[in-house]
Amino acid sequence: MASEPVRVLVTGAAGQIGYALVPMIARGVLLGSNQPVILHMLDIPPAAESLNGVKMELVDAAFPLLKGVVATTDVVEACTGVNIAIMVGGFPRKEGMERKDVMSKNVSIYKAQASALEKHAAANCKVLVVANPANTNALILKEFAPSIPEKNISCLTRLDHNRALGQISERLNVQVSEVKNVIIWGNHSSTQYPDVNHATVKLPSGEEKSVRELVADDAWLNGEFISTVQQRGAAIIKARKLSSALSAASAACDHIRDWVLGTPEGTWVSMGVYSDGSYNVPAGLMYSFPVTCRNGEWSIVQGLSIDEYSRKKLDLTAEELTEEKALAYSCLS
Ligand code: NAD
Ligand code: LMR
Repeated sequence: MASEPVRVLVTGAAGQIGYALVPMIARGVLLGSNQPVILHMLDIPPAAESLNGVKMELVDAAFPLLKGVVATTDVVEACTGVNIAIMVGGFPRKEGMERKDVMSKNVSIYKAQASALEKHAAANCKVLVVANPANTNALILKEFAPSIPEKNISCLTRLDHNRALGQISERLNVQVSEVKNVIIWGNHSSTQYPDVNHATVKLPSGEEKSVRELVADDAWLNGEFISTVQQRGAAIIKARKLSSALSAASAACDHIRDWVLGTPEGTWVSMGVYSDGSYNVPAGLMYSFPVTCRNGEWSIVQGLSIDEYSRKKLDLTAEELTEEKALAYSCLS
């Protein structure tokens, strides 16, 4: 018997990630090929016509799993009854704007949308924040939606995780599906720490070997590999004159799918979640950790060894998040 449709909200749905993401959701990439969905798409009034165009295309694509589309500029209508909320909408940095100006715009957006989600979303709604600054937007959303369990609020660092898998796969000339357990620690920014110390590759023989052993080039792993992953977003912007969209949409689907349906045995993924102090990361930051997911809940992978080099990098990105948090709070006062 077909299950009840799941209502999925995409904010900023008329933008470029939205345009790549909504067909993936309607095709079953998000929740599997047996799960019907109803899409809720929110954008702002200047984008209303374009949003309606996206709705028309969704109808024209005749997706069998898509049981309805709500396209609206009304945040209450958009949030009503949603089971999953993917928050892509936000205010981009424009020429001449200071970091604080961008933060201030996004803090107001995420404060208002937090309240709408808290009041109108379905119980146990899972929230993923994609819009930058993703970690801090998610933190603000958490602060202003106190009745949504903090375990239900996350931000996207899966794109960085996938970028790290991609770099290792290219370097070793192995299938990306055979590489696992990289970690993105910290902020979705250039201070993030892509860590391969626990990553492995499954060889054609079936044997699993450590990435460090196979690459056998610590200078590359501690240098170019890290900076390539940290700077990949900027490299895409330079090449496309637009920020990453298809890879961001795909990573958002990976994030939600694994959260809802579970991570494979022996595999972890990276998610930005509310820190409980694990690995001596200050509690109260939205920080990317290695997590496994089961029964719709994530848990931080515990007990991984952190060497001195990694410790500094974990702390550096935590410091940046602490500063962002203070800046966000100063915008509220
Ligand atoms: P975009 O400018 O093409 O689209 C953003 C959309 O959000 C626009 O349609 C805009 O009208 C809408 N919007 C603005 N304010 C809104 C509001 N208050 N409510 C609803 N919608 C609103 O941008 P994009 O390329 O789709 O990127 C979206 C965001 O995702 C950006 O902040 C970008 O930096 C971020 N991003 C994050 C990651 C990640 O891995 N976390 C990766 C890529 C991009
Ligand atoms: C990305 O990682 O591709 C984006 O977050 C870059 C950006 O600044 O939008």
